[in-house]
Order: sequence, then structure tokens, then C-alpha cells
Amino acid sequence: MEVDEKTLFEVLGGVVTIEKIVARFYTLMDTLPEAKDIRDQHSADLTDAKEKLVMFLTGWSGGPQVYIEKFGHPRLRARHMPFKIGEKERDQWLHCMFKALDDCEIAEPTRGELKKSFAHIADFMRNQQA
Ligand code: HEM
Repeated sequence: MEVDEKTLFEVLGGVVTIEKIVARFYTLMDTLPEAKDIRDQHSADLTDAKEKLVMFLTGWSGGPQVYIEKFGHPRLRARHMPFKIGEKERDQWLHCMFKALDDCEIAEPTRGELKKSFAHIADFMRNQQA
């Protein structure tokens, strides 16, 4: 009997869904007053940030390793060192991402699993005590 072992990328419905989540995430970051501190750390034009997050999440979820092919090992924590990331910034990032997952109506249990993973990664990205 065949074992059904889909990657998270497949379960999500591929790059189309990842693009939807990332577009919503950056629209929220760009417009929600409660995300102002992290918005201010980004470039005025979010196109690059959007493309990079789509590429990263594609590989991270088990799809093609497009980010690594273009930019090498993600070293996400090191790449975020130039930005101030404390609890406030972590929580603002997660607020936008959780809302993006809700707004895109990602099915459970995947939605909850993604929130858990993002909470871990965002906390790992912290480079300030508070
Ligand atoms: C926790 C709070 C976070 C803050 C404040 C933050 C902030 C930023 C900023 C300011 C940039 C530069 C974007 C630009 O080009 O203007 C960036 C890039 C990026 N972030 Fe974050 N980030 C956070 C968390 C995360 C998390 C949790 C992930 C992954 C799940 C992530 C993935 C990325 C990626 C892939 C890039 C592009 C890196 C590159 O190749 O240059 N970030 N982030």
C-alpha cells in the first residue's frame, strides 16, 4: 500500500498559495498601524522582500530550493542582524503573519501548524533582550 506523505508545500497547494499568504502578509504590514515599527525597518518598496519571502517559504516547506539556488544558505538569523528584533518586533511580525493565514483561510490543521512554526522562527530571530 502506498503511504501518503505529502510535503507541506504540496498540502498548501504550491507556490500559488504561498504567494497569496505573502502578498497578504506584506499588505497587512504596510497598512496596520500596530505593525508600524517593523514596516519602518523595511525598504519603501516591498517587492524584493515579497519575492524573497516567497522563495524562502517555497524551499522551507519542501518545494523547489529557489532561495538557496539564488542566494545560498538562508542564514536567516544572521541576515536579520542589521534589524532591531525584540519582543515587540517579533510580535508585530507574527500578528501580520497569523492574520494573513486567517485571511487566506488556510485549512486546519495546517494553519495551526504553520502558526506554531512561525512563532518558533520569529522568536529565534530575536537579537534584542526585550
Ligand atoms: C521577527 C521579526 C522580523 C522582522 C522585524 C523582520 C524584518 C525583515 C527586514 C527589515 C527585512 C529586509 C527586507 C527588505 O529587503 O527591505 C527582512 C528580510 C527577510 N525576512 Fe524578515 N523579519 C522578521 C522575521 C522573519 C521571519 C520569521 C522570517 C521567515 C519565516 C523572515 C524571512 C525573511 C526573508 C527570507 C528575508 C529576505 C532575506 C534576504 O535574502 O535578504 N523574517 N526581514
